[in-house]
Amino acid sequence: MMCFKAIIALLTIGVISAEVFFEEKFENENWKNDWIYSKHPGKEFGKFIHSAGSFFNDAEADKGIQTSQDARFYALSKRFDGFSNEAKPLVVQFSVKHEQNIDCGGGYVKLFDCSLDQTDMHGESPYEIMFGPDICGPGTKKVHVILSYKGKNHLINKDIRCKDDVYTHFYTLIIKPDNTYEVLIDNEKVESGNLEDDWDFLAPKKIKDPNASKPENWDDKATIPDPDDKKPEDWDKPQHIPDPDATKPEDWDDEMDGEWEPPMVDNPEYKGEWQPKQLDNPNYKGAWEHPEIDNPEYSPDDNLYLRKEICTLGFDLWQVKSGTIFDNVLITDDIELAAKVAASVKDTQSGEKKMKELQDDVQRKKDEEESKKNTENHDEEDDDDDDENVDSKNESEDNGHDEL
Ligand SMILES: *[C@@H]1O[C@H](CO)[C@@H](O)[C@H](O)[C@H]1NC(C)=O
Ligand SMILES: *[C@@H]1O[C@H](CO)[C@@H](O)[C@H](O)[C@H]1NC(C)=O
Repeated sequence: MMCFKAIIALLTIGVISAEVFFEEKFENENWKNDWIYSKHPGKEFGKFIHSAGSFFNDAEADKGIQTSQDARFYALSKRFDGFSNEAKPLVVQFSVKHEQNIDCGGGYVKLFDCSLDQTDMHGESPYEIMFGPDICGPGTKKVHVILSYKGKNHLINKDIRCKDDVYTHFYTLIIKPDNTYEVLIDNEKVESGNLEDDWDFLAPKKIKDPNASKPENWDDKATIPDPDDKKPEDWDKPQHIPDPDATKPEDWDDEMDGEWEPPMVDNPEYKGEWQPKQLDNPNYKGAWEHPEIDNPEYSPDDNLYLRKEICTLGFDLWQVKSGTIFDNVLITDDIELAAKVAASVKDTQSGEKKMKELQDDVQRKKDEEESKKNTENHDEEDDDDDDENVDSKNESEDNGHDEL
C-alpha cells in the first residue's frame, strides 16, 4: 500500500515538473496554418501533402506530412515559444516512414533559435541541433546528430546506422544536463555516451610534447645482423642457366639460322641474395613513444549540452525519390512521456506490415496474370518502369542556381 502511494507521489512530481515544448501530430489539414515554407531564392521547393501513405495501421491517426515531388529540396518549419534546456533533459523525437523505398534523401529535423527567418530557411541557416536519419545509396545510411557549439556544427564521431525499410520508425535524441546523451530508434538505445568524448567540441586534453623528439642514439631495431655469419663460398650461382635438356633441332642450319644456343631456364641451385642471420639487438630500447603533455588549449566546459534558445523546428532536406512521411514530432524534457509515445510504434508497424502484405499479394497476382498475357501475345511495347533516372543533384547552392 505504502509502496503504491509512493509511486503515485513520484509520478505526480514527475508530471508536474515535466514540460512539452513542442508537439505536432498533423491530425488534420490545419497544420498548413502553422507551418511555413521557405522562399529562399534559387530553389523550387517541394510540397508536403497530408497523408498516411499507401499502407498504414490507422487511416486517420497515421496521417503525417509526406514529401510529394521527386528530386526536390524541402524546406518547411514551425515556430513555437522559445525555451532553454538549462538544467533539464532535452528530448527530440519524431517518426519517419520511407514508404517509397528511399534511394537518397534526408529524414532529419533541425532545431533553430528564434533568430531564424522561416521564409528564408535554407541549407546554410545556422541551427542548434540536426537529428535523424539520412540515406544516400548503399554508402550512407546513418543517423545524424549534429550539435552547434560556438557557432560551428559538430558531427557525432560515432557511426549510428538508421533503418532503411519502408515502415514507420521513431527516432529519439536525449541530451542530459550532465552532458551525456542517448539515441534511440523505436525506443531501443542504439548509441549513448558523453558529449565531450563523442564530439570534437573541445581541443584535445593531451597533446604530444612539441619539445620532445626521439633521441638520436635511440636504438629501435629489435634485431641486428650476426657479425660472425659469413657468406658460404659456394653461395653465388647464376640465376639462369642454359637448359641442359635442350637439344639442337635436326633441321637447324648454322649458316642460315646462326649458331644454335639452348634456351635459358631457372637454375635450381640459385639461392638468391645472401642475408646474414639476425640476432637480438642487445641495445634495443623498444619503439620510442612521444611523451604527452596537458594541452594548453584545452579548457573543459560543463555546458556542452546547453542550448540557450530553441524556437523553431524545420525539415530542411533533399530527396530524390519522394514519399517520406514525418509525424509525431515531440520536444519535451519528459523522457518517460517520449518513451510512452514511441511505444505506439509496435502497433503502427504491425498494422503497416499486414496491409502491405495484402497489397503485395494482390500485386503479385496481377503481375502473374500480366506476364501470362504477355507470353500469349508477346509483341507488346516495352513496359515503362517509371524509372525516370533522376540525375539532378543536391550539390552546393551555387550550381543549384543555373539548373533552375
Ligand atoms: C545530398 O543529400 C543526401 C541525402 O540527404 C545526403 O546524404 C548528401 O550528403 C547530400 N549531398 C550534398 C552534397 O549535400
Ligand atoms: C618548450 O621549451 C621552451 C624552451 O625551454 C619553453 O619555453 C616552452 O614552454 C616549451 N614548450 C612546451 C610546450 O613545453
